[in-house]
Amino acid sequence: MKIVVLLGSPRKKDGYQVCTIIEEKMKTRGTVSFEYINISKLNIEACRGCELCLTKGDALCPIKDDLITLRMKLQDADGIIFNSPVYACHITGSLKKVIDRLSYLFHRPELVGKPTLTVVTTAGGGLKETSKYLKMTAVGWGCNLIGEIKVISTFFFENRWVKGYFSSKYVGKMTKYIHQKADAFFDAAQTKKLPIPTLYDVYMFNALKSKTYISEADYDYWKNKGWLDTKYYYKTSLGPVKQLAGGLMNWMIKMALSKIEKKELGI
Ligand SMILES: Cc1cc2nc3c(=O)[nH]c(=O)nc-3n(C[C@H](O)[C@H](O)[C@H](O)COP(=O)(O)O)c2cc1C
Repeated sequence: MKIVVLLGSPRKKDGYQVCTIIEEKMKTRGTVSFEYINISKLNIEACRGCELCLTKGDALCPIKDDLITLRMKLQDADGIIFNSPVYACHITGSLKKVIDRLSYLFHRPELVGKPTLTVVTTAGGGLKETSKYLKMTAVGWGCNLIGEIKVISTFFFENRWVKGYFSSKYVGKMTKYIHQKADAFFDAAQTKKLPIPTLYDVYMFNALKSKTYISEADYDYWKNKGWLDTKYYYKTSLGPVKQLAGGLMNWMIKMALSKIEKKELGI
């Protein structure tokens, strides 16, 4: 089993250590290899904003750099871990650069069902916002989000500040939680079982589908995948609430688009 870790930090410290706890736990279950990719060490240019990937297709991206191999590694992996420390209340710039460059994955998801964990570390603040963004990215790319691990480094790692906020109680609880998520991640990567989507997954599926109304490249992709008329990426049992929410969302998007169209045409 191959796990790819996207390390958003330029240093191999807090987030890396949390990921090694996941790695060690998973290795008690079976053969697992971890590849840690330090994004800041890769040659990845910032997006130039031409929008060709969105409108015509990602093959037309004018930048040819390490993103090409990174994308192949993500496709190839049995599981992905997105890691970032909180920097100025958000993910790091280097990770954002990668996500920007892969913006077309929010339009044409190619990692559907890929088991994923997010790992965020912080000195204290920004945990919720940063983790929420990584969750949105993972689900937007079609991944199977197994869990969000949010660690306050000042409580988790010893001797962090002069006074020390280290709490063995917090470490115990957090380690237990990390182990639980590592087990669930292992199971998902091993069985490749596609999960029953959450309401958020269904919401995201319909939100992304709406882009097929405005982009030919997206329309063709979704058509080829057979997703245009389905309720989700794959056959699954959606309860009545999720079906209703999905249908309602689709209807609302279509109504909003038709309103804009009428306004633009002056009718
Ligand atoms: C440039 C920079 C900005 C940071 N911004 C924040 C912040 O906004 N809020 C916060 O609580 N911690 C902030 N931190 C602290 C880190 O999030 C924290 O030390 C984290 O555990 C580092 O993880 P790492 O060792 O994996 O890089 C910042 C650290 C750096 C270097």
